[in-house]
Amino acid sequence: MKKISLTGIKPTGDLHIGNYFGAIKPALELAKEYDARYFIADYHALNTMKNSKELNFTIRQVAAGWLACGLDPEKVIFYRQSSIPEVFELTAMLMAFTAKGLMNRAHAYKAAVQENTERGDDTDAGINMGLFTYPVLMAADIIIFDSDIVPVGRDQVQHIEMAQDMAQSVNANYGQQVLKVPQAGVQDNTAVVPGLDGRKMSKSYGNVIPLFASEKALHKTIMRITTNSQSVQEPKDPDTSQIFQLYKLFADESGQAALAERYRAGGMGWGEAKEELFSAVNRCLSPIRERYDAIMSDIPSLDRILKQGAEKARPIAAATVKRFRKAAGID
Ligand code: TRP
Repeated sequence: MKKISLTGIKPTGDLHIGNYFGAIKPALELAKEYDARYFIADYHALNTMKNSKELNFTIRQVAAGWLACGLDPEKVIFYRQSSIPEVFELTAMLMAFTAKGLMNRAHAYKAAVQENTERGDDTDAGINMGLFTYPVLMAADIIIFDSDIVPVGRDQVQHIEMAQDMAQSVNANYGQQVLKVPQAGVQDNTAVVPGLDGRKMSKSYGNVIPLFASEKALHKTIMRITTNSQSVQEPKDPDTSQIFQLYKLFADESGQAALAERYRAGGMGWGEAKEELFSAVNRCLSPIRERYDAIMSDIPSLDRILKQGAEKARPIAAATVKRFRKAAGID
């Protein structure tokens, strides 16, 4: 039997090429080897997004984004967290096995408390119980589908360790393997994608290249990449140029070598280097952008795909809850 890979996708607006190379592409690669279950973490988003129109739209945006990038809903169980009520039943059960002290140590919660303290606010200001108990819901997301591996970024490893803790407490208490203990799958070999200003591409730095921008907007964004003041004639070092680092993500080895040669030879200005980057990015993103636009223009079909995913997911979730209830004496 294939092992199970599961990950949650927070619906947080426009996807960018950092998301693509850092999370989407590696998760889709993993789906070839594992039984993959990927979901839109919409109840997680509710902790921070209270505008209903915005949340409703970003849920679709992110789902359409993953489908446009190649997620095959015939092969991956793809669903919305909010469509699986069993997740919330498991959350309630896991609460009984989760020390409050464990939640006090969660990075996201601690960071929020620290920000309040620095600002001189009450330590609890702006912190809702959804944020405080976030790791329990996330553990339920994972455990309910008997996940073996959870592909995540480094920042999420602590959450996976907490999920392990919860599953182990349950198993230890009942003296049997009720819940599967998941492992984090941190991908250390994923490309670091530099942003327009050379720092890591991140929405919070405002330095991103969006995945689904129109051709015109994409061109404009790429032309904004910061460069040094070397003249056209001067030879340039591809290895220290973020334009070239980005180019590498979109070109094969011979294409990379050919362009590196032109950098080193001199005679190519930064404007031209950006035009080369734009053509490569645009060639790669055009079909993805077209698929994305097509999916977003037919929301009922998109919703049907997500509903079908939920129909496949629910029986698996129900079986886990049933097993746990039986072990707990609530059956
Ligand atoms: N917390 C994750 C993030 O911020 C999203 C997430 C929610 C998740 N539930 C999950 C990831 C379960 C992996 C498994 O990106």
